[in-house]
Amino acid sequence: MAKSRMKILLTRKLHEFAMTELKKRYDIYVHSGEIPMPKGKLLSKISQVDGLVCFPYDVIDEEIIENAKKLKVISTYSVGYDHIDLQKAKARKIKIGYTPDVLTNATADLTVALMLDSMRRITEGDRMIRGGNWKVIFGPHDYVGTDIEGKTIGIFGMGRIGSAVAKRITPFGMKITYHSRHRLPKNQEKKLGAKFVSLDELFEKSDAITVHVPYTKETRGIVDMRLLKKMKKTSHLINTSRGKIINEKDLIKALRSGMIAGAALDVFEKEPIGKNHGLAKMRNAVLAPHIGSSTTETRKKMAEITIKNLIYGLEQKKMIYSVNLD
Ligand code: DGY
Repeated sequence: MAKSRMKILLTRKLHEFAMTELKKRYDIYVHSGEIPMPKGKLLSKISQVDGLVCFPYDVIDEEIIENAKKLKVISTYSVGYDHIDLQKAKARKIKIGYTPDVLTNATADLTVALMLDSMRRITEGDRMIRGGNWKVIFGPHDYVGTDIEGKTIGIFGMGRIGSAVAKRITPFGMKITYHSRHRLPKNQEKKLGAKFVSLDELFEKSDAITVHVPYTKETRGIVDMRLLKKMKKTSHLINTSRGKIINEKDLIKALRSGMIAGAALDVFEKEPIGKNHGLAKMRNAVLAPHIGSSTTETRKKMAEITIKNLIYGLEQKKMIYSVNLD
């Protein structure tokens, strides 16, 4: 009797080449329609499958994992895995694959673009022109931003993406400071030209602060009024990591009152946000729809790794990137 094929659930369709690969090997169910896949539907499907391909907005919590009686591998199409209950997965011996490295450059590029945008008020100008409000030309004080050279960038979280931002910033002539859970070895600090400072000093002295820590219970809402109050009035806050690291209510207050000069955000507490969101009403906020890794090349590489992680995990081979559950 032929061996029955394993079953895979994808909460969203991946690239055609990835779907073809998966179809060759497995019986696949792809969710279509409402995004994220409604929890009730996810709960009923997950009980039948050996593998799951999910996205950073899918909440793979205790209840889902309890129901996933046959599940052996979760492969997330993201570098972040804060949406997965790691302890429950570990207890059930479920392997978790993710997609770091391939999206480092794309995310670092976007971070620098957002920083420049906020400091030079590019999107703000674009909004003004499209709103029909560009009336006066080239005044000494019109739409002035700030110089980049000689200013200080504060990198909060000097992992892969934070380091890639530091490399990109060097030619701009900014002083590079950082704060991280673990201080880098001296030779790496030297290579990046980066100085380690305390979290408070990072917020006090930087002209642009960029967030690259992962979202954990320690970093939840860590950028709140206490830290925002420490920032210079002329300083900018950039976030391409996870929205919930910043307390949005406090950030809106800081932007509205002129406590800080601007913010450029690719991620939000609850996504997607609409035009009535408090941040969408701030003149001095640049907003992007969670596009850190969104380039054709990077998203394709993420798909390649996602399916390899899944296939290797199910075949008891070493995954390309697996989350260390210890
Ligand atoms: C990730 O991979 O976690 C990002 O948020 C997606 O761009």
